[in-house]
Amino acid sequence: MCGIIGYTGQNDSVPILIEGLKALEYRGYDSAGISVSKDNSIKTVKSKGRLDRLAEKIKQTGNIFGNCGIGHTRWATHGEPSDVNSHPHCAETLALVHNGIIENYAEIEEVLVGAGYTFESDTDTERAAKLIDMFYKKEHDPLYAIRKACRVIRGSYALGIIFNDIKDTIFATRKDSPLIVSKSDSGCLIASDIPAILGYTREYYRLGEGIIAKIEKSDITFYDENGDTTEATLEKINWNVEQAQKGGFPHFMLKEIHDEPDAVRKTLSPHMKDGLPYFDVPLLDTEKIASFDRIHIVACGTAMHAGIIGKTVIERLARIPVNVEIASEFRYRDPILGKNDLVILISQSGETADTLAALRHCKAEGVFTLAIVNVVGSSVAREADAVLYTGAGPEIAVASTKAYTVQCALLYLMAIRIALAANKISTGEAANLCASMLKTIPESIYDILSKNDVIRNIASRLVSCEHAFFIGRDMDASIATEASLKLKEISYIHSEAYAAGELKHGTISLVTDGTPVVALATVEKICEKTVSGIREVKSRGGYVIVATTPSLAEKYNIPYDSIIPLPEIPEFLLPFPLITSVQMLAYHVSALKGLDVDKPRNLAKSVTVE
Ligand code: G6P
Repeated sequence: MCGIIGYTGQNDSVPILIEGLKALEYRGYDSAGISVSKDNSIKTVKSKGRLDRLAEKIKQTGNIFGNCGIGHTRWATHGEPSDVNSHPHCAETLALVHNGIIENYAEIEEVLVGAGYTFESDTDTERAAKLIDMFYKKEHDPLYAIRKACRVIRGSYALGIIFNDIKDTIFATRKDSPLIVSKSDSGCLIASDIPAILGYTREYYRLGEGIIAKIEKSDITFYDENGDTTEATLEKINWNVEQAQKGGFPHFMLKEIHDEPDAVRKTLSPHMKDGLPYFDVPLLDTEKIASFDRIHIVACGTAMHAGIIGKTVIERLARIPVNVEIASEFRYRDPILGKNDLVILISQSGETADTLAALRHCKAEGVFTLAIVNVVGSSVAREADAVLYTGAGPEIAVASTKAYTVQCALLYLMAIRIALAANKISTGEAANLCASMLKTIPESIYDILSKNDVIRNIASRLVSCEHAFFIGRDMDASIATEASLKLKEISYIHSEAYAAGELKHGTISLVTDGTPVVALATVEKICEKTVSGIREVKSRGGYVIVATTPSLAEKYNIPYDSIIPLPEIPEFLLPFPLITSVQMLAYHVSALKGLDVDKPRNLAKSVTVE
């Protein structure tokens, strides 16, 4: 959700800003811009559309260079994507980039109008820029001006600011939106996220809430809310540049699906010891687990869908009730939270505003919170009582794939741990499950990756359709929710997920000649019932694609038009190759349609506004 980059140092900032924006484009891509300061003046170039349009405009404008600059790639909140609504936003004394939402922008505008200001854009950000400008003109003190403005602003923000009369210096601050600052050999940087700085440094500071950073060519100073200097903790980057590159694949999404076997190993191995689940957090001590009455899983989007898998497997193995909640609904509906409840927050980025708000609500209610997060040191990770990291590495494609797979794998392992602590399974059973997860999940995903051509052929059948359905029962119904989301978000085909038995209660009226219905059939005890659902679809002319094992297909005489053959592995682990297969299906539909797979319209990867 909007990407910010800034650089001040020995080199020309323009190529560094463009490279940084490229690495952050997954955060928003409806418009982009840069401001560069040189000789007490700031030059700004902005453009609606993708980054290459901005790069072209910079080339045409010519003569834009300077050692200090800021850049922004936008996911529109206030005001449609347009040149004028793009960031940076300028006032007489400064240029500013912003990620977040300023809720009281109308009040701020009123104050500014009273002071004689006028506005060019529809954005909340321009109001913030002019507010800081107003305070800056009073005292000529940037720290005072930023602090004063931040006391007035309500909402979320990460800000990068350059003043035209302060040479080679960027100021940055944040509240509820991420921002990192770092030093490299050739200068200092600010960025919304690690991929933008990976090529320059292995270390960074995560800017604290309310802290103002003054970033000079070779120095960074942090100031607290009283204006006193303060320290920040230097953190190490554990990702490498290659992990954040396409590595020869045509799209990040395909590359990230291929990362899954390794990502599963990297997620499970650190959480296993002597062949059993091992979570080095007191919250998952045997005694503590035994005290849990209920578990709530709270998340957004794909992470929430992983939560549904978590519910299915925890309830099955540990017999503890699990409630899955959409984070944006959770805190507003006054959820019933008991003193002995555990809330698990799941987030790839660890910065999703709704998930963070839900976490803060739980903390205020005194409930135990455990985060499952991919990005080390992110806000959700830092604020939860305990954190378990997934080992997906950087995920760049907007449509999440490997992050979901590893979230599911970690939830499986937690389910085994909880079941063991609750005496629902024996140590021997737990050890067997762990051993088979570590070996079979990666192997079975490789098996699916090798069926790329089969899946692409099936995908070609979906390319021209307008609607599709995913059906399944039990665990298959849980996976269908994510399979359907994947297809709709990147292929723009309207798709719905249904528990196979529910289709007949209304939705089957939409199934006509040739309507594609993807049936997920991996749960043997309910296979016959799933087959009944499939027959109902076939008798109405639906085109059935079934994802199942050849042995289940034969044993239950599953009717189908196309089949995605899953490997013959224990049923408990079949969800993993199944997940990968439906991710591949969605990928191929989007790629065959010639769409921008990694950057689907209207979306952004990290949603840092409510
Ligand atoms: C956005 C992304 C989704 C993601 C969701 C939650 O909507 O497009 O892929 O699942 O945010 O993100 P998180 O970082 O909290 O997992």
